[in-house]
Parts: sequence; C-alpha cells; structure tokens
Amino acid sequence: MSDHVRVPYNYLPMQFADYSEIATGWDALIKSSDFTLGTFMERFEGEFAAYIGSPRCLGTNNGTDALILALRALGIGPGDEVITPCNSFYATTGAIVAVGATPVFCDVDERFQTDVDDAARRVTDRTRALLPVHWAGASPDMRQVMDLAQAHNLLVLEDACMAIGGKVHGTSPGTFGDMGAFSMHPLKTLNVMGDGGMVITEDAERMTWMLKYRNHGMVDRDHIEFWGVNMRLQPLQAIVASHMLTSLDERLARRREVQRTYDERLGTLGPSIVVPPRAEWNPETVSLYMIEADDRDGLISHLVANGVEAKVHYPVPLHLQKPGRDLGYGPGDMPVAEAQADRLVTLPAHEYLTDEQVERAIDMVADFASPTGGARS
Ligand SMILES: Cc1ncc(COP(=O)(O)O)c(C=O)c1O
Repeated sequence: MSDHVRVPYNYLPMQFADYSEIATGWDALIKSSDFTLGTFMERFEGEFAAYIGSPRCLGTNNGTDALILALRALGIGPGDEVITPCNSFYATTGAIVAVGATPVFCDVDERFQTDVDDAARRVTDRTRALLPVHWAGASPDMRQVMDLAQAHNLLVLEDACMAIGGKVHGTSPGTFGDMGAFSMHPLKTLNVMGDGGMVITEDAERMTWMLKYRNHGMVDRDHIEFWGVNMRLQPLQAIVASHMLTSLDERLARRREVQRTYDERLGTLGPSIVVPPRAEWNPETVSLYMIEADDRDGLISHLVANGVEAKVHYPVPLHLQKPGRDLGYGPGDMPVAEAQADRLVTLPAHEYLTDEQVERAIDMVADFASPTGGARS
C-alpha cells in the first residue's frame, strides 16, 4: 500500500459533489417564494416524522434551539435541576442554562454513554428532568433511563443530535422520552449545508405550543397568543434535508461497515488500545468513531504525521470547563469521563472512506501500538 494514502476526517466536499437534485428543489422553491415555513418545510417535517417513527415533529434553526425549545415546552426553568452527562458537546448543558435551569452532571460508562446508576445517585428533590445524550451516535440504554425517570417522576428530553438514523431496541433515538432533539449541522448524519434542528414529541399540546413559540407566538398575521421567538428551520435547508434523507440508511450502512472493520482489527492490538464495547440493541450512527489509547497524544501525532486525520472529542469534560467549575465541580468528580478525556482518539470513519483508507488508518494505529501493548516511543 502506498505511503501516500491520506485518510481525511472532513467528508463535506464529497457529500455534495453532485447537488443537481438539490438545485432542482431550490429552483422550485425560488419560483414559489415560499421562503419562510411553507410547503417545502412542512413536506420535510412529514418525511422526518415518518423516518423517525414519531407522530409529530417540527424544524428549528439548529440542534441547540431544538433543545432549548423542547426544555421550554416541558416547562423547565429556574429552580429546576436537570441531570445530564458531563461528556457531551457544550450545547446540551448550554440549553439547560439558557432556560434558567441548573445542570447537574453525571458520569459516563465504558461506551461513553450516560451512567444511569450514577445519574440515579444525583437525583434530588429539585430534579425535574433527565437529559441523556446519544453521544457519538451511540446510545445509552434508554429503557434504564426511562425506568429511572419513572421511579422519580422525572421528565426526559433526549439529546439525539448525533443520532439521526440510529436505533435503540429497534426504535429511533429520541422516541423514548417526552421529547427528542436532533441536529442537522454539517457534522451530523443529515447535513443541511448549514444549521438545522428538529424536535419530536407525541404530546399534541406541547407540539402546538412549540409551533407557535417557534414563530413569535403568532396565531395569525395580526395576533400573537404569547411572546415567542424565531427558531424556524429554513426551507432552503429543508430541501437539502429531504434530499439527504433518501440516502441516509445507505450511508449509515457504510459507516457501520467501517466501524465493524475498525472494531475487529483495532480490538486485537493489545491493552494500550481500547475499543469500546458495542451493544447489539444499538446500531450506531458512527458520528464519532472513538477509541482509547494509553499514549493518546503520541498516537495522534503519529497518525496526523502519517496522513490520518485523528481528533479528540473532547479533551476537557463539561464539568471541568470554566462554567462547570463555577458550578462547584472539580477534578475527581467524574472519574470515568475524566480518565477517558485523557485517552480518547477519534478516527475518520465516514461513508466516503475507501477500504484502502480504512486499512491505512488501521495500519497506522497498529504501527504505533506494540503487540505487547506498550506504546512505541
Ligand atoms: C450532542 C450534541 N448536542 C447538541 C448539539 C448542538 O447542535 P447544533 O450544532 O445544531 O446547534 C450538537 C452538535 O453540534 C451535539 O453534538
């Protein structure tokens, strides 16, 4: 194999190499002038609801707004505590803070998912909701999450931003709790060429409220029922979403193939490289393919020097970020997530990788890890 095979992390230039169908959709939109809400957006909302298997959904500006809108619809605000894992993207906790509630962090398990037992230990009489995350496109066991919620009468909002197309016990992430929020940011499985988000719920009353709140609280052109905001998904992007949805399952199938190959081959490299366990009830979206490595920084340097664009998601858990420490958290509070943060490596694992590129990435990890498990110096 050539030493010059590069393994890019960024797949965006490949994703829209052929955008002719999107352009045809845009042409129809432009001719209709249906630039806010309207038929193109409603069409995608219907397609998304059918794909996810939820009776109701609505499109938002982005995944962060989807979380904020859902929290507001659940009535969560000042004085409420919301338990959430400490290893997500900033937006999960940012949304809790944005509605005036207090985030309470919990630790994670060896699959990088919410540790439900640890979450249970953090329930207080101020806890109103659980906000589990389908982190990296894998999922916590939502049955356990729901058991915990039921035991304490808690609301559940699922951050399924990375999990469009995943499955948990046969159904979509986001469908277990009271609400589910999704992102269509370019680095998510359904990329809308910019920002976009979705909220799902089975609750008709909450959905009616969200539809109004997303659009200034309007009931018609001249009247509002309450003060709202503008959190609307753009029709231009709904057209991209409709198009991308048609290829999603096929693209995810290739990602899962790459994941299987990585798992099988990297899993034999010895104790210095740890592949997380997979759950057979959870076909993942492989949004982030992460392993742990004893010498993480050494491995990343080796990979990058050899054209394999490895990354870290993320080196500092949320509770150790400045605003997390301001809440009173410190080192040692989340031992599992903190140990992982020092060891995580994300490998390119998208659907556009060739077998040769996957082999190259595996070879470069193997090249660094000695058969006995010690990292090569
Ligand atoms: C787990 C998670 N939650 C929330 C978000 C926020 O989504 P967005 O970037 O669309 O606002 C993201 C992605 O960025 C995410 O990965």
